[in-house]
Amino acid sequence: MNVINNQLYIGELHASEIVKRFRTPVYVYDDDVIRHKYRELADSLSYPNVKIFYAAKANTNSRILEILREEGAGIDAVSPGEIMAALNAGFKPNQIMFTATAVSDEEMKFAISKKILVNADSISQLGRYGELNPNSDVCLRINPAVGAGHHDHVITGGPDSKFGIWVGDLEQAIAVAQAHKLNIVGLHQHIGSGILDANKFMNAVDVILAAAKNFRNLKFIDFGGGLGVPYSPDQKPIDINEFGKKLSGILAAFSKNYGKELLFIFEPGRYLVAESGALLCTVNTIKKTPKHKFVGVDTGFNHLIRPMAYGSYHPIVKISDAEGAEKEKVVVYGNICESGDVFTIGDRELPVLKEGDVLAIMVAGAYGYSMASNYNTRPRPAEILVSGKKMSVIRDAEKLKDMLE
Ligand code: LLP
Repeated sequence: MNVINNQLYIGELHASEIVKRFRTPVYVYDDDVIRHKYRELADSLSYPNVKIFYAAKANTNSRILEILREEGAGIDAVSPGEIMAALNAGFKPNQIMFTATAVSDEEMKFAISKKILVNADSISQLGRYGELNPNSDVCLRINPAVGAGHHDHVITGGPDSKFGIWVGDLEQAIAVAQAHKLNIVGLHQHIGSGILDANKFMNAVDVILAAAKNFRNLKFIDFGGGLGVPYSPDQKPIDINEFGKKLSGILAAFSKNYGKELLFIFEPGRYLVAESGALLCTVNTIKKTPKHKFVGVDTGFNHLIRPMAYGSYHPIVKISDAEGAEKEKVVVYGNICESGDVFTIGDRELPVLKEGDVLAIMVAGAYGYSMASNYNTRPRPAEILVSGKKMSVIRDAEKLKDMLE
């Protein structure tokens, strides 16, 4: 996916071909970008025993799951629905881990029936899991007391976070596991999402590796996801080769001390799919107040909630015709009946827009469609995958009549 002279190319196609055929709003993804991101991360890690478990919540489209399976990924699933989506996309049970929160017994029974490894998020869950499935393998999600992320809502480590078993309570967890003859085969953590400072990730790696020394039967350690991608022009990408090199050294040294070559797992979601996707929309209204010029489009936070939920910046590119030199500050707003439904947080300088122009809201491949809703009784858009010159509908647009049944 490339923007060249304000023209958007997805694979080998020009965005206008997609708009002509499918109209807007529409989500479009570039197959190559997903594969490239996967390989880039996998290749950066020279430690021999590493797996990437894609965090399906970022984008659960079945074709995208299949692409990642083809590349060699496993799946981090957070609900019975995501387990089913992964199984339907051809993942084997041993390629899936169930990492949920506030987990009910019914959900654990479902995972057990599908032979999926359960990652316990609390001592309560561990005890209940032991009752349901004694003498089995289990993983523990720890809260390493440190967290990071692009917004408070997505920081998942530290004393304010609801996630994991507090790192100081692991002895208690070991006792509960022993009481049910559970074999703790894995330790897991996920400290947060949208991390662009690799040092923060590394600091948490130190914590889980220190804790791991007290567990003698481990087969793997899972560092979670969280690797960020740049959204705004002032953000820099993580130097992934540097990151992989540093980490591989740490992992090799740890395994040597531990006395066996453990498997290390990473669970990226955003890193793999965010940059593969764009939400295309059409300007249908231009209006003004004494303070702002407003540009209204045919989509809203029902389709992409990130700006509204986290104040997130998404690049917006005018793709309908070559961008003129003239720019002006505008607020791009959506068609949902709430004032928070804006895609620019405040004014943003964009090329002068007119009604009928097509815009691409970029870096929308992660937590875009997967967080979309039917709010305001509006259908969700189609999802289109471009592979080279080929475009395919990987999910049909919802029809109003199906929603009203
Ligand atoms: N593993 C676990 C256990 C997680 O909870 C998550 C994300 C991931 C992996 C993947 O994180 P990632 O690599 O994508 O950062 N809706 C928010 C992000 C929420 C992330 C929730 N957990 C957003 O749009 O920024």
